[in-house]
Amino acid sequence: MVSNQARKNIILVGMMGTGKSTAGTLVAETLGYGFVDLDQAIVEQEGHSIPEIFKDRGEEYFRLVESAILKRVLQMEGNVISTGGGSVLAPGNTSLMLNSGFVVTLTATAEDIISRVGADRNRPLLAGNAEERVRRLMEQRKDAYLFAHCTVDTTGLSAAQVSQHILTHYR
Ligand code: S3P
Repeated sequence: MVSNQARKNIILVGMMGTGKSTAGTLVAETLGYGFVDLDQAIVEQEGHSIPEIFKDRGEEYFRLVESAILKRVLQMEGNVISTGGGSVLAPGNTSLMLNSGFVVTLTATAEDIISRVGADRNRPLLAGNAEERVRRLMEQRKDAYLFAHCTVDTTGLSAAQVSQHILTHYR
């Protein structure tokens, strides 16, 4: 088990469709940690789906709520936290993450991301031409995930294998 870093949070960041929630659930189960899905927490607090929040209140409002909930969650220990792909964008969030846990970036190819979430209507930023949007977001965010303590390339890996890699880096 974890020795010198008792119940330090594990924070998963990365583009949508990199498998943060699936791998994060497995890591949490293995460690006996809690699991927090930031998108889910936003939906529960707001009482609306993510596409509804984007449509009715706008992305700026969504980002404010996302940052506020992130701050709250990071005050606790012993959680694996799956963040939304854009949670690294607001100023201050990355240093807060680095100071509150072990940050892991999950990466995937554009093709993998498109095949996993390209048709998912729950991702408003991909509405329209999902393929083009994924590629544009990846280009815009190519440096945004580099701040993490480590990176796991999920290409060709099952969720269980991704989870094992995360645990190896963490321990
Ligand atoms: C977003 C990613 C989504 C969700 C929202 C915006 C982004 O979360 O927060 O649709 O800006 O990359 P996932 O990364 O869990 O899909």
